[in-house]
Amino acid sequence: MADANALEIPKRIAIIMDGNGRWATQRGLPRIEGHREGEKAVTAAVLAGAELGLEAMTLYAFSTENWKRPTDEVRFLMNFNRELLDRRVAEFDSNNVKIRFIGRRERTPKALQRKMAESESTTGRNTGMKLNVAFNYGGRAELVDAMRAIGEEIAAGKQKPGSINEKTISKHLYVPDVVDYDLMIRTAGESRISNFLLWEIAYAELYFTPVTWPDFRKEHLMEAIAEYNRRIRKFGAI
Ligand code: IPE
Ligand code: IPE
Ligand code: MG
Repeated sequence: MADANALEIPKRIAIIMDGNGRWATQRGLPRIEGHREGEKAVTAAVLAGAELGLEAMTLYAFSTENWKRPTDEVRFLMNFNRELLDRRVAEFDSNNVKIRFIGRRERTPKALQRKMAESESTTGRNTGMKLNVAFNYGGRAELVDAMRAIGEEIAAGKQKPGSINEKTISKHLYVPDVVDYDLMIRTAGESRISNFLLWEIAYAELYFTPVTWPDFRKEHLMEAIAEYNRRIRKFGAI
């Protein structure tokens, strides 16, 4: 495994956790077994991130487009994510991880919404890694929500259209303290963004791995970080 001491650790990492379904079907199992197995990868990634001292890790758990899946799979994911929080929050909390959810709450079942709020308040005073869980999240929906909030401020006379700049937009995102990502990882071989963090990844390094999410472990995270260390970030300069 790549040696953390020899590497520059990126501050903010976003992960598109993909390939649960394929992990299961490759083994002749129903897709939901892949989601179940993914819990091990979630736990490993969060604990590794906390240990590495990341400022923030953001995990894509359910997109605004994932409602298009069969009702049974959607229902499973809602219950499963609530149960996962039941099982894991105490461990994350004891590792000083601060949990927040990004995305639109309204369409998610009430029991899950309560669990989300409870997880946020349990870990709210923690000072370690910020764990943002993107749930019913879409990058475009986030920008729409930001535009609406700015529009309200203009209507109330608190904001002038001409004074809106990039900082104004950033300040109206779901977690304004975590805006610029250093590294974005997607598992399972797909090379696309799927509506994740559109504004925030403007200058992130993108890393795609064929490893399916249920198989992703600390060694794979370290490999992504090692590759990040081989990149030359220029931000438009020379
Ligand atoms: C990621 O795995 C989990 C979610 C999107 C909820 P998938 O369920 O997308 O797995 P594949 O892409 O079908 O293999
Ligand atoms: C992106 O994965 C969403 C999550 C990981 C939660 P998808 O599997 O839904 O993305 P597409 O459909 O391949 O673009
Ligand atoms: Mg997928």
